Amino acid sequence: MKALVLSGGAGTRLRPLTHTSAKQLVPVANKPVLFYGLEAIADAGIKQVGIIVGSTADEIMEAVGDGSAFGIEVTYIPQEAPLGLAHAVLIAQDFLGDDDFVMYLGDNFIVGGITDLVDGFRADRPDAQILLTKVSDPKAFGVAELGPDGRVTGLEEKPEHPKSDLALVGVYLFTPAVHEAVRSIEPSRRGELEITHALQWLIDNGRDVRSTTISGYWKDTGNVTDMLEVNRSVLETSEQRIDGSVDESSEIIGRVTIEEGACVVGSRIVGPAVIGAGTVVTSSYVGPFTSISRNCVISDSEIEFSIVLDDSSLNGVRRVEASIIGRNVVVTPAPRMPAAHRFVLGDHSKVQISS
Ligand code: TTP
Repeated sequence: MKALVLSGGAGTRLRPLTHTSAKQLVPVANKPVLFYGLEAIADAGIKQVGIIVGSTADEIMEAVGDGSAFGIEVTYIPQEAPLGLAHAVLIAQDFLGDDDFVMYLGDNFIVGGITDLVDGFRADRPDAQILLTKVSDPKAFGVAELGPDGRVTGLEEKPEHPKSDLALVGVYLFTPAVHEAVRSIEPSRRGELEITHALQWLIDNGRDVRSTTISGYWKDTGNVTDMLEVNRSVLETSEQRIDGSVDESSEIIGRVTIEEGACVVGSRIVGPAVIGAGTVVTSSYVGPFTSISRNCVISDSEIEFSIVLDDSSLNGVRRVEASIIGRNVVVTPAPRMPAAHRFVLGDHSKVQISS
């Protein structure tokens, strides 16, 4: 069994972060979201992993390398443009050969891993197996319709009138039967080869497509709200670990990770939260569900329920909430006179001011 991990894509919903870097590398509790997926694949006993890469190929390759850090062997498969999930399968045919495989969307987050799912598929071997979860807004997802025996009878991509509230989760299991399907379908109206169409093709051709409905936690980290929510849920499971330095006038409350080389001076940190290596927090408050990455400076500021990426600084800023701050960002107060906001914002930035 092999794995195909999709780490190309446009990432429009996470702009401006995705103008300069891959969305699969945005950290959740200071670890790229992609790494959680690769660990789950390795835990399921899969060694050979193909990673689909697009315009951010260099960055993904630098972060993952040959996969040995995860106990896997990685083959990179370049995709010239984000032409759809089924297109990714199409271009991976040489790598996949005649093996069964799990397809994993590199920006998806599944609590509890995929080991049981992979084991079940290995035992039963239907032509394809999909994962479903109940959602409140099925119009935004690929939606499945099930027959009385639980088999999948139909699939629709972002339907106007959803026939169920069961959305496809970003993990799919396939036998080589899928290759004929991805070769047979045409691009959709949005110009992509849709995996839902390939699955529908299998169903229409009498193939056995089964589903498992998961009640556990799943998130597509494609947008800011979901990203913050996944960060919250992962931090929730952390324990207190203080490897960096904390001075006597600081207060650390609850499940806080202070990574080695981080430094906390005269500050209050309320967990769950993580402070990355090389980061200095001075005279500040860092509140619950906050991940501060490496080499940041937080001084005279307050921040909670947020993610700050490497090498950024907050100086004299109260109070930051529900925010994602990219790399090398500098946030400071404006001078008192004139009382004005001053911005240098990249394309597609989003700013909410409190006044
Ligand atoms: P999506 O989130 O569906 O697409 P996207 O990355 O283009 O994002 P947005 O909608 O914000 O513009 O993609 C799911 C995952 O699959 C993600 O990790 C990117 C990856 N992907 C590919 O590798 N190739 C593709 O052709 C597509 C469509 C997605």
